[in-house]
Amino acid sequence: MSANLASAAYIGATILFILSLGGLSNPETARRGNLYGIIGMTLAVLATVLGPRVTAAGIPWIIGAMVIGGSIGLFAAKKVQMTQMPELVALMHSLVGLAACLVGFASYIDTSVVFTGAEKTIHEVEIYIGIYIGAITFSGSVIAFGKLSGKIGGKPMLLPGRHVINGIAALIVLYCGYAFVQAPSIEAGMLPLIVMTVIGLLFGIHMVMAIGGADMPVVVSMLNSYSGWAAAATGFMLSNDLLIVIGALVGSSGAILSYIMCRAMNRNFLSVIAGGFGTGDGAKVGAGGTAAPAGEVVSISAAETAELLKDSKNVIIVPGYGMAVAQAQHTVFEITKLLREKGVNVRFGIHPVAGRMPGHMNVLLAEAKVPYDIVMEMDELNDDFPSTDVSIVIGANDIVNPAAEDDPTSPIAGMPVLQVWKAKTSIVMKRSMASGYAGVDNPLFYKDNNRMLFGDAKKMLDEVLVVLKS
Ligand code: TAP
Repeated sequence: MSANLASAAYIGATILFILSLGGLSNPETARRGNLYGIIGMTLAVLATVLGPRVTAAGIPWIIGAMVIGGSIGLFAAKKVQMTQMPELVALMHSLVGLAACLVGFASYIDTSVVFTGAEKTIHEVEIYIGIYIGAITFSGSVIAFGKLSGKIGGKPMLLPGRHVINGIAALIVLYCGYAFVQAPSIEAGMLPLIVMTVIGLLFGIHMVMAIGGADMPVVVSMLNSYSGWAAAATGFMLSNDLLIVIGALVGSSGAILSYIMCRAMNRNFLSVIAGGFGTGDGAKVGAGGTAAPAGEVVSISAAETAELLKDSKNVIIVPGYGMAVAQAQHTVFEITKLLREKGVNVRFGIHPVAGRMPGHMNVLLAEAKVPYDIVMEMDELNDDFPSTDVSIVIGANDIVNPAAEDDPTSPIAGMPVLQVWKAKTSIVMKRSMASGYAGVDNPLFYKDNNRMLFGDAKKMLDEVLVVLKS
């Protein structure tokens, strides 16, 4: 393939990726967006492999790597449960970071292309920054994987004087950068490069370990953004325009998502960028605020829940992580259909950080074919709870915790939540009194108008459905 044809294919792939991102922003166009992405990626890979920069000797290596990587990807896609997707995404981000590091080291020791003067300096700065971002992305994503999969505890690890440690590390990285660019030979440049890489790796670990459970959504989207910038840096190192554009697209869309997440959780975007976020300066995660909630918990049976639903005019369903664990979305839709046929106005309230990844609940409800027009954002229906007969919380906890509004010492203080307790009756469906991801007690369970339907969400909803049908 000639250089001109490869460039044309790259431009085509870039346009398809932009269309793909645009499509993915709305559930109704998401499938089309996915398709654009697949076609764009196929075009990009073909144009790169068949393009002028790959020699015949390199083809078997590329095919071998694609077969191994593709097989692992296929295996993972088939084996990974929907609830494990966030961890998988974190692992994928770590691979982008690792690739940026490896490409950086490879292009530094590659003597087949010789740069001189300003070009050499620019190339070395690209390598240095690329490896640094890659190292942070790699180790940060591995820790995020550990936290999301529960292999590492959700509590923030706060080293004493961590801001000072970060400041000193930043100064060493700057000094090593100077020493690296000034180095007279590749051998001499290796030491500052390796020191910086180790600091980048430690910084990534430190940054994510310091984040409390409640702030993990911001970390997930930040690492998504970092992986984009790591890919863009790889594009600079390889002089590959397509990789630069795609990396910038992922980096900036991830940054926008982080901003949206910060707003949803009432966090400061600038302190997030600085990496000094989480519960470090606030209350401790694991505490339930000033006082643990007290009072009586009233439970309800599936049959009683069904009766309450039958007699309602307005119902709001709030799904959370537990719905994903129980895979209860199909039964939820069956119940929704039945109630709507009986003239009940049923709507879904989606919190921006419900579940374990952005859009988690929307994906599950779309999979169950719930119509998009009854799936509302938190802001769209939070004012409607007082005129709602029954609000049903399915496996959600943190996103419906009134302590976020009432208790300024709570680790989730200030986070907007779905005000389910303002409905005439709220029903919380979960297996026990355990706290949610943020490890915070929930006073909702003890409210007078709240009822607890204990058990696995799918099992309980199946029982509700049977009674509704009878
Ligand atoms: P959580 O606060 O984690 O609560 C989920 C609840 O589901 C748990 O309390 C659990 O209680 C219940 N549950 C688990 N399995 C169940 C089953 N089979 N049947 C019924 N209930 C079940 O979830 P949420 O309300 O969706 O809030 C999300 C949390 O995750 C927030 O703290 C958010 O910051 C964090 N987070 C979000 C993201 C993104 S991007 N969305 C990423 C990382 C972290 P039992 O054990 O008693 O059943």
